[in-house]
Amino acid sequence: MHSLTARRLLLLVSGGIAAYKAPDVVRRLRDAGAEVRVVMTPAATRFVTPLTLQAVSGQDVRVALFDSAAEAAMGHIELARWCDALVVAPASADFIARLRAGLADDLASAVCLASAAPLLIAPAMNQQMWQHPATRENLDVLVARGATVCGPASGSQACGETGPGRMVESEAIVAAAAALFAPGTLAGLRVVVTAGPTREALDPVRYISNHSSGKMGYAVAAAARAAGAEVTLISGPTRLAAPAGVTLVGVESANDMLAAVNDALAACDIFIATAAVADYRPASASENKIKRDGATRTLELVPNPDILANVAARDDAPFTVGFAAETNDVEAYARAKLERKRIDMIAANHVGGELGFDSDDNELTVLWNNGRAPLARASKPALARQLIELVATRYRASRGTGGSA
Ligand code: PMT
Repeated sequence: MHSLTARRLLLLVSGGIAAYKAPDVVRRLRDAGAEVRVVMTPAATRFVTPLTLQAVSGQDVRVALFDSAAEAAMGHIELARWCDALVVAPASADFIARLRAGLADDLASAVCLASAAPLLIAPAMNQQMWQHPATRENLDVLVARGATVCGPASGSQACGETGPGRMVESEAIVAAAAALFAPGTLAGLRVVVTAGPTREALDPVRYISNHSSGKMGYAVAAAARAAGAEVTLISGPTRLAAPAGVTLVGVESANDMLAAVNDALAACDIFIATAAVADYRPASASENKIKRDGATRTLELVPNPDILANVAARDDAPFTVGFAAETNDVEAYARAKLERKRIDMIAANHVGGELGFDSDDNELTVLWNNGRAPLARASKPALARQLIELVATRYRASRGTGGSA
């Protein structure tokens, strides 16, 4: 039986030339066993008619938010509750921006805002629009909230340009929709992730910290959640919202983080340390604001506990994954950390340039005993998904439940 059998899918068709493929998407989703209803944006009706989609879906197609007959029964809420998943295909740049902003002034956007069902997005647009930082950022935010993105493909475009932005073929959309219902590679496992910086107080208003934004760690937590894990994210101060479905524990200092990690470790299967923990803290923090008096001051620093090494040294240690932030000899230093901290895996990144701290993209070299996997430059959410797949494979190999050693 196909994992889409008897699943209720709401296909949202937004305005773009790729809307002409929507009838084929409906047909193939139905062939896979799904029940499909369709909502179109007004712009989409310029590319394909509601009648065509009604014929292939066998259901009324809705376009207008203010359809008095349907809305008398709160139609958009009913649709939002009815579906097991939302599939936006094609998703135009405009519709993606609307989803990110949480707009609700057309039926398709309103249903998305009103639904808690998983969201699959198949982007289709001009290659420049796809590569624009606004579109990339909008999608990163949606992915961090739990959305799945399928495509786009590259090739010649209707506008005459060539590049990424073509909607993927219907088969890929059906496979991605089916994957929404398949158990993830970390299903049934508990994952604890640390993220962000720590702040080490000098006095009530000053602290020592670093440039970590939390983006990498939050993306790792979101990817682990999307892979089916129960995730606790222990984070130093950041400006980021907790990824959907993830339990967030906020901390300030390295000692706070160690305490929160120890509390969260019961029945933890995988521990991933992306946090940039301060290696040292002031030997003592002044109770009152330190006054300027013109004198030279010397700051005494004492080492902070190494949270990752502490976790790896436990008798009941979970599978431990560290990060290594290095400015030079990245791989050699990272491998030395892997061995010194006795952890299972380490993801090394080059910092101090345009990647690493507070960047949207990153590049990783993942190392383990006798193995390595370079992950090419990509957005942090995309890299996090690749990293989580590697972690899942290595975790299963270490526990003797599959995967290659
Ligand atoms: O947050 P972003 O802006 O997205 O930036 C991401 C990042 C650059 C912070 C991230 O990719 C990263 O490299 N995190 C690790 C940063 C770091 O502190 O690296 P390290 O080489 O100093 O530490 C090695 C490992 O030990 C890390 O897993 C760290 O979390 C852990 N550690 C370090 C010191 C300490 N006292 N306790 C620890 O657990």
